[in-house]
Amino acid sequence: MMRMPLTLLALAGLAACGSPDPAAKADADPGAAKYASVCQDCHGAGGEGKGRFPRLAGRPADQLAARLRQYKSGHKIEGMSDAMRPFAQAMSEQQIDQVTAWLATQ
Ligand code: HEC
Repeated sequence: MMRMPLTLLALAGLAACGSPDPAAKADADPGAAKYASVCQDCHGAGGEGKGRFPRLAGRPADQLAARLRQYKSGHKIEGMSDAMRPFAQAMSEQQIDQVTAWLATQ
């Protein structure tokens, strides 16, 4: 039996409207979630890059997606290592689009 007092429901509704929760937003965005679970250890929490890990934040989504598809196909990119290949190969086409769309807005 589900019995929740109405006042509690109303309060929860108000809280949800009054304070947008950034963590909840990241949960709702599959691109952000994928980035946080796989990519941020190397490329930084916000895609800012560090040392040999290139910056990804704010770069055009189609450019990043093209790169990931090159890695995914096993194509050797001049001047780059093979470090990214397994990560790109583990991504679906849809995940590539979602992650790069999110990165472009960072
Ligand atoms: C183990 C560390 C590591 C992880 C995890 C990782 N990357 Fe990378 N990534 C690199 C390195 C190192 C490069 C630099 C290019 C090279 O040397 O191959 C790179 C390059 C890239 C590039 C090409 C950037 C350019 O300037 O063209 C893209 C795009 C990219 N990574 C996206 C991602 C995404 C998206 C994820 C998560 C799914 C991810 N990376 C996870 C290490 C990593």
